Amino acid sequence: MSTTNTYESISNENRKFPPTASFAESAHIGSMESYYKQYHKSIQDPQNFWAGVARDLHWFKPWDSVLDDSSKPFYRWFDGSRTNLSYNCLDRHVTEGRGDKTAILWEGEPGDKRVLTYADLLDEVSRFANVLKRLGVHKGDRVAIYLPMIPELAVALLACARIGAVHSVIFAGFSSDSIRDRVLDSQTSLVITADGGYRRGKILELKKIVDAGVQDCACVHHVLVVERGGDEAIDCPMQNERDVYYNDLSADVDAICQAEEMEAEDLLFLLYTSGTTGKPKGIMHTTAGYQVFSYITAKYTFDLQSDDVYWCTADVGWITGHTYIVYGILQNCITQVMYEGAPNYPDEGRFWEIIENYKVSIFYTAPTAIRAFMKWGDDWVTKNDLSSLRLLGTVGEPINPEAWMWYHSVIGAERCPIVDTWWQTETGGHMLTPLPGATPTKPGCATLPFFGIDADVLNDNCESVNAGILAIKKPWPGMMRGIYGDAQRYESAYWCKWGGRYYFPGDGARVDEDGYIWILGRVDDVVNVSGHRIGTAELESVFVEHSAVAESAVVGVPHEIKGQGLIAFVTVIEGHDCSEDLRNQLVAMVDKSIGKFARPERILFSSDLPKTRSGKIMRRLLRDIAEGRELGNTSTLADPSIVENLQLQFQQGK
Ligand code: PRX
Repeated sequence: MSTTNTYESISNENRKFPPTASFAESAHIGSMESYYKQYHKSIQDPQNFWAGVARDLHWFKPWDSVLDDSSKPFYRWFDGSRTNLSYNCLDRHVTEGRGDKTAILWEGEPGDKRVLTYADLLDEVSRFANVLKRLGVHKGDRVAIYLPMIPELAVALLACARIGAVHSVIFAGFSSDSIRDRVLDSQTSLVITADGGYRRGKILELKKIVDAGVQDCACVHHVLVVERGGDEAIDCPMQNERDVYYNDLSADVDAICQAEEMEAEDLLFLLYTSGTTGKPKGIMHTTAGYQVFSYITAKYTFDLQSDDVYWCTADVGWITGHTYIVYGILQNCITQVMYEGAPNYPDEGRFWEIIENYKVSIFYTAPTAIRAFMKWGDDWVTKNDLSSLRLLGTVGEPINPEAWMWYHSVIGAERCPIVDTWWQTETGGHMLTPLPGATPTKPGCATLPFFGIDADVLNDNCESVNAGILAIKKPWPGMMRGIYGDAQRYESAYWCKWGGRYYFPGDGARVDEDGYIWILGRVDDVVNVSGHRIGTAELESVFVEHSAVAESAVVGVPHEIKGQGLIAFVTVIEGHDCSEDLRNQLVAMVDKSIGKFARPERILFSSDLPKTRSGKIMRRLLRDIAEGRELGNTSTLADPSIVENLQLQFQQGK
């Protein structure tokens, strides 16, 4: 199973799975007729459509205009309004009598459990917000969050949104160096972390990682530490004055905190993601537009009903968790499961036990996880009763039809529709997705655009084609508003094609005879490893930091489980040994600079890289080598022997 094969099998895939009549009957959008009718309306008169959606939510002051496109591509949505996203996730439900509804059914990896109603969550968020205020956090200040998947993670986001602080969540698999880069780039004044968290039976000592990250960051005034709790004591050094335990402050702050009235375009959060340069980008999302988009995409894509028990297995550290664990789901007043740990702890049946125990009805996960489940075998699944499931979803990377079919038959018992959702950190929410009560699905296909999303596949000349590059032709409320501190990079990275007319997401795509859009993967130097974006330039800049390394080139290759993996080609300065020890040092540098999840599958040493006579590295040939293909045209190479040596080395498994 390789990505190359995925694309080939995707091209030949023509099976179709319409929703069952019983699903369609009670769905929000129950037929293609209804989808097309609403879709066309939303495209012909987007402002009216988005205003209609926004009216479901609470506004302290209504908007003056729905969309202001006078400073394209710096669009403004719902200008003139005042609102608060934490209010719409919590207070709105509590004041309307839904406070007793369960919001979060949390389970820690060791098996500890917590249940929070919407009223409990409002109470916790208000206290947390008052603690932040007591520590001097004001509206507009940046707050970094580095927490395990415990309820306080969702609470911390909502507390920031409540007082207008800008959260910048850093996935708790990132290293100290990554924390430092993000903290400095955004000039974060406070970091929220925990003493530790559990992963595969081990404790990850998060506070120590934060300490190493922020030791030289003068902008950080406080580190706020949540105690994860549990039976084992977690070593957690505290620095006088700077570090504070959350529990020491939360007991004596008020349990009421009025939600700040935020302007529509006030910054809500930053989330760093990889691009084509060595420096991650701080993607900016603002208040009102993201609020509306996260609310409606969650409602329709997951066909949310009041008795659903929803479970998204992503970490809140990624955009999927922001939009479809926290903001989109809570705005819809849904009960959800939140789980801290690994899918294979204590054994490979953990997820299916959770589904049975909590009677999960909607399950949203990544293709990488699905491929791992397949490998672990059906017995882990069939031991459990999964009859509560009614809808399945995938996100983050292309899903190969084999994995889709397994998900459909083994997990979904051929009964549950699958929503394959294509979107990005930058888009804020779902862009291409089936609507489960309407859209006949096809294995491996994200199908059709969501309401208000004008998607097309174009060539470089801006002509619609069957296979080319995905383009989004109209602005939408959940779109990114820029890159923190780098307006120019926002324009050059996303509005660089087609004369700046359309948003360029960086994905290749094709359109089939039904108008369905098939995503074919990135067209830039970003690699999607287990659904996590890694810029090849980021890894390359890590390797060249080593005194023995002259140059490096990293390419993505198909990977059976992860979708894609990374192969690094490294040239070593004369006089240095290409030893196993050097290889280990380079891997350790990746762990330190980015995190273990960015480790390459293999590192190959060579005296030089294949280059054209003008000195440009020929990545195409490196990809040929890394994928075990015959070499393409080598006639423009300055020295063809280099590539031959590399190929031999690769084949010999060095
Ligand atoms: O290449 C696409 C791929 O993931 C990229 C976005 O990554 P990120 O911002 O980390 O967000 C991941 C979670 C939304 C896209 O440019 N991608 C995401 N979803 C899909 C996908 N590729 C194919 N099919 C999908 N459903």
